[in-house]
Amino acid sequence: MEDENQNQSGMKRRTFIKAAAAAGVLAAGGAALWQIGAFRRLQENATRQFPGVLYTERLRQIVTQDPSRTRMLMWELTLPAEEDLTVELRVQGADETNVHHFPASNDRFIDDEIEVYQYRAEVNHLTPGTHYQYRITSEDAATDWQTLCAPAADETYKMLIFPDTQSSDNYADWKEMAHLAWARNTDAALFACMGDLVDNGEDRLQWTDFFGGVEEMQRVIPMAPLMGNHETYDLNWKERLPEAYLHYFATPPNASTEFDRYYYSFDYGDVHYIALCTQQREIGAFKDGLVAEQLEWIRRDMRAHRKKWNVVLMHKDVLQYRIHGRPERTEGIDDDNGRVWMPVFDELGIDVVFSAHLHTYRNRGHIYGFQKTPDKKGPLYILTGVAGNVRYPNLWIDHPFDEVTLPQPETDNYLTMDVGRDAIEIACFLPDGREMDRVKVTKR
Ligand SMILES: [Fe+2]
Ligand SMILES: [Fe+2]
Repeated sequence: MEDENQNQSGMKRRTFIKAAAAAGVLAAGGAALWQIGAFRRLQENATRQFPGVLYTERLRQIVTQDPSRTRMLMWELTLPAEEDLTVELRVQGADETNVHHFPASNDRFIDDEIEVYQYRAEVNHLTPGTHYQYRITSEDAATDWQTLCAPAADETYKMLIFPDTQSSDNYADWKEMAHLAWARNTDAALFACMGDLVDNGEDRLQWTDFFGGVEEMQRVIPMAPLMGNHETYDLNWKERLPEAYLHYFATPPNASTEFDRYYYSFDYGDVHYIALCTQQREIGAFKDGLVAEQLEWIRRDMRAHRKKWNVVLMHKDVLQYRIHGRPERTEGIDDDNGRVWMPVFDELGIDVVFSAHLHTYRNRGHIYGFQKTPDKKGPLYILTGVAGNVRYPNLWIDHPFDEVTLPQPETDNYLTMDVGRDAIEIACFLPDGREMDRVKVTKR
């Protein structure tokens, strides 16, 4: 249901862009934000003549399996590089003669009929607990130095978590909230985006708008991205494989032949994170076995990587909510994801499960054996909310498991997760910084 609404709004924008381009009115046209952005980019390109300066776009850090020792760096150029590109890495404060070099590989791809001049390099041999600086260099030019922190094994830290960012307003609300969240939390160590990063997974303009929200933060702290169902939609709103998503995010490999990087896991400090792929319905039209493969993998993964805290990130939710005006729809446990995953989370002793997709914030407390547990047995289930302008006012009917819901109709929200020595503390904020919920998880 939600997808139909979004499709209409997304389609309108694209149709408008195509019509405007055909009429040749782009430069003279109205004041739509993206037009101003495109014009500015043209102007910037004209002034990018300073010798010795390498201009990159969307320079970003992506989590690796062990961010205390390695980091994935990705970026784009407006034109293909004529020389080899290198990442230079130094310990913060060290002089420029003590620099490690990592060659970049060409990661160019074409999608939405646009060629993206993308590059990547993985830096390794980091020492846990060390602050570094990195920059991208070509033969005779370099970017500014950026910070890169390798966490200590038992590091206490803060993570930012952003729910669905898909938008129909050129990502204006998302950009504003993401910038405010970052301004208030520049001490965050990493951030997660919970899927449906864009409304249409093939639309290049939407991707550049999405990245516009995290431009500053993704240069200096790593992102843990999730794939949502909207990453599997093509320009005609038909399902396809999540090609753009997989190109933009070189997340950790999972040794799968069919579904490499669809799902992954990583560690950060005392937490092991499991990023599941819940798009078996969308992907199922192309290949089978996503759920069965993840069920085997998660047990193997937890045997090898269990940490003091174990946290699941999944796009689609585990509960089913009733919907206003649809009396036939019952509430309970979601068949596709809840029935499949909740018993596994119980079995594996998962501490917290973050989900998204419904565009509403709900803290459901702890659930074990499909039942609420007042003694906090079982994982804490947080439905993370909405971070774009696609909202569903008056759609969902409260679930008896809900403990905290945001005032309706909802605006946007973001979350912080503080990982301390003895507790994990999760808080939910409105764009203006007002704290709406706070919950602490301790070992029972
Ligand atoms: Fe969504
Ligand atoms: Fe979704």
